[in-house]
Amino acid sequence: MREIHQLRDVQSWMDSGMKLSTACNETAKLYDAAVSQLAGWYDNKQLDGLESTLKKMMEADPQFIAGRSLKHSLEVIGGSNIKNNPTLEKNIERLASDVESNSNTCGEWEKLHVKALQFSSMGNAEAAVRQWEEILIEYPSDILSLHLAGMTCLINGTMEKVSGISGRILPSFEDEHSLSSIHAWHSFGLSEINLLPQAERHARIGISLEPKNGFSTHAMAHVFEMTSRYDDGIAYMNDNETLWNFSNHIAGHNYWHWSLYYLTKGEFESAADVLDQKLLNRPDFGRFDSLTLSYLLAMEDYSISDVMQKHGDRYEDIIKQNQANHYRSFNDVRIMMGLCVSKKYDEAEQFMTESKGSECIHGRNVNENLLTSIWSYSREMYEDCVELLWPIRYNIKQIGGSEAQRDVFSLMLIHACLRSKKVKHNRLASQLIEEREIHRMKSPLVDRLRRLL
Ligand SMILES: [Fe+2]
Repeated sequence: MREIHQLRDVQSWMDSGMKLSTACNETAKLYDAAVSQLAGWYDNKQLDGLESTLKKMMEADPQFIAGRSLKHSLEVIGGSNIKNNPTLEKNIERLASDVESNSNTCGEWEKLHVKALQFSSMGNAEAAVRQWEEILIEYPSDILSLHLAGMTCLINGTMEKVSGISGRILPSFEDEHSLSSIHAWHSFGLSEINLLPQAERHARIGISLEPKNGFSTHAMAHVFEMTSRYDDGIAYMNDNETLWNFSNHIAGHNYWHWSLYYLTKGEFESAADVLDQKLLNRPDFGRFDSLTLSYLLAMEDYSISDVMQKHGDRYEDIIKQNQANHYRSFNDVRIMMGLCVSKKYDEAEQFMTESKGSECIHGRNVNENLLTSIWSYSREMYEDCVELLWPIRYNIKQIGGSEAQRDVFSLMLIHACLRSKKVKHNRLASQLIEEREIHRMKSPLVDRLRRLL
């Protein structure tokens, strides 16, 4: 994370091996500030945050290639692509054509990023990630390539690639201000392939290098979750809240991890307190996690009607703001959970029909089954829920997100099997609980589920 006085001007970027197409030092510094905020998941208050930094950067030099490429890359991460956003398509065409006609003034690094953007905006995530991997061969200290590749893998359910990418560049990474972020990505990638001792080591290095980097704390939160160290997780999140809270773009999601420890321990009131006091008011992507948490609490038969009544407008806002997009199944399933847990069944049915009909939604192969399984579970049609979820359980990964985020479906399948009237489903419940214990030993949630058999 770079302080204002550490931001690189045009010459400093050149000294880092990356020639920029702008001659304006203010633009180069604002670009650096934007990359720093992105990789550190925070808003720099002196610059009024990431969005404002990008705006000022574009005002300072509207033609700046790397700046335009970054702006559009973030739009793609946000869910836009050339199929659902004609303006984006035009802007990227213009950008590519400007690169072509100003080939001499553009830096090589910028050109390669524009190429990656073209792939990602076409929905070709695999080619885009390959392109960022190519960039990292020549520019191993490029935190932006790692961040965009990592985010793309997270969105596309290919997190198994991430620790390889970060591990290859870690020894030659020379940007001390981004070092905590690369350790955080490396740790997160390792935890998603179950290399947990290594994941913990890198999360702790990331935290020690920059205690305020909430993305390193996030990696540590996954390690606590996957090693069933719920008390350690609660103590850690509580003791260091003022530090990791600095990374306001991921703080909401970190609160969600915190609440999961309580939920797993069966301390539902504490989990609901985090939802009520910390999570629901977050503007970041923790807002979607609040819908999952509400659904998980309902699956445990814990009533959150007080919280839902108090924050009724907020639930409605989260759902309304995202209801019409149908960019990603990962978002739609969580909106569906929000609608069902709010008992808005008419709206849920209509939403489900629209989402199923969306040709371009990411995760389309499993979207219909997932939405209908949530519907079936919420309407107490547990047998249907099992029949919908059981056949696709190995394919759910393609909607993206982390193992911890998709765990709601593993739990829903077990709960549905337990509540089903079919003996075969009840037997399956017993086997699924055994399976769960392989990865989550000493989990109070496993003990709780076993008592329901
Ligand atoms: Fe997470």
